[in-house]
Amino acid sequence: AAGLLALGLQTWYGSRKRGLFRQLRKQMLLDDAGLVLVRDDFCKQMVDGLAKDRPSSLLMIPSMVDIIPTGNERGEYLALDLGGTNFRCVYIKLGEGKGQIDDVKIEQCEIPEHHFTSPAQDLFAFMADRMVTFAKKLGFSRARDGERPVVGFCFSFPCEHISLNSGKLIRWTKKFANPGAVGNDPVQMLEEAFDKIDFPVDVDCMVNDTVGVLAAARYVDSSVMIGMILGTGTNACYVEKIDNVQKLQQTPRKRRRTMIINIEWGAFTSKTLPKLDFDRDLDASSTNPGAMQLEKLTSGMYLGEVTRRILLKFAEETGLFGGPVPTLQEEDALTTPDTSKIDHDSTFFGGPTADILRSELGLGHWQTFWDRQLVRDIVRLVAQRSSQLIAAGIAALLRQMERDGTFGPMERTVVAVDGGMFQHYRAFREELLSALERIMGVEAAHQIVLKHQQDGSSMGAVTMAGAAAPSQVGPD
Ligand code: GLC
Repeated sequence: AAGLLALGLQTWYGSRKRGLFRQLRKQMLLDDAGLVLVRDDFCKQMVDGLAKDRPSSLLMIPSMVDIIPTGNERGEYLALDLGGTNFRCVYIKLGEGKGQIDDVKIEQCEIPEHHFTSPAQDLFAFMADRMVTFAKKLGFSRARDGERPVVGFCFSFPCEHISLNSGKLIRWTKKFANPGAVGNDPVQMLEEAFDKIDFPVDVDCMVNDTVGVLAAARYVDSSVMIGMILGTGTNACYVEKIDNVQKLQQTPRKRRRTMIINIEWGAFTSKTLPKLDFDRDLDASSTNPGAMQLEKLTSGMYLGEVTRRILLKFAEETGLFGGPVPTLQEEDALTTPDTSKIDHDSTFFGGPTADILRSELGLGHWQTFWDRQLVRDIVRLVAQRSSQLIAAGIAALLRQMERDGTFGPMERTVVAVDGGMFQHYRAFREELLSALERIMGVEAAHQIVLKHQQDGSSMGAVTMAGAAAPSQVGPD
């Protein structure tokens, strides 16, 4: 009788788990009509964001980039790249041939935890210090004859641009929350930090990472029109007709037909987004409640945490893992690299999945094969929702670009992409392609090429620095 009771209980728990999974799947994934609604609201908010005073959650920031690297830039440049979990010091020597890069050196620097919240001045001082050590190692020295080394700055946060190398930080995003920066000019703050350590430089461009990726891609292929980041955060930029940018106040330096617009799509807010109770809880306990709604449903900084919250819900409501064990209640106990390993587990979940559940969530003895399979299905569900929403964004962006016939219809569109989610999460990439097929139709989706732009943001900042400053100072 005890055996039968145990079997009955197990079946009951099993069917509750499957029932909850089916319910979540229905709420989190969009059917064809739901996808179209997201895409259409995205399109509408893009147009509103370009207008003068129409409200939109999409910032649609003119990048003030009216010069684009042509591949003919020459010389040696430095760049500093701040955006995700690390910052990078970069050196590049642009060679004689068109698009030729003779030498690249990149140093990845870990950001100590306290610098995500320290006063902005301290964060900038820390970066300038590391950059000077890097530059000196390469033979750069203090300014000679008043000519300073030129630095390109890839600053991957929403900034209103006044010119290519001046602007105002609108808000911090991702993990950063350093007081003293919002409303100020990041270029000026960086130059001041270099001045303070007596190594003055000219920061001649500040670009968002999406713009960097686009610039780097165009350095070798001028047909690329979109730059996208799928990493810690997510965002895209594209080439827009200047006449469509009604809110643009300054006249660009040279009168050009087009300008790169930084959409800041991570900030997309819409009633059409499939948000659930655990998404609202995640938002409430984030560094920026209410902001960056799309980013919180899609990007690498959040997918692991969304998954953890869903697992906790299963533990509480269906007895998964024997109930809500303490480690499962710890924020960020699961990261997106963990969930991507679970998603790619080809060992029937006995290998990486079991290891991660044990090491990250302390779930040694409670796992059964079926539970591990359920964990994988939940992980995949979270990735599928993300890929659907990103696909809707891409589809909207292409519509906008084809809207008045300026660029299209485009027979083949290359989207340059960088970021860890895109680079390392194969199952997510595959989901993204199938979501694109669903929303755009197979034929149209196959005309889109998602091209990985390795180190795109850093390389882009350097090539932009080259384009903005034809004469510069190199190493001694
Ligand atoms: C965040 C930032 C945005 C950046 C993106 C990818 O969304 O606000 O500027 O491009 O992350 O790093």
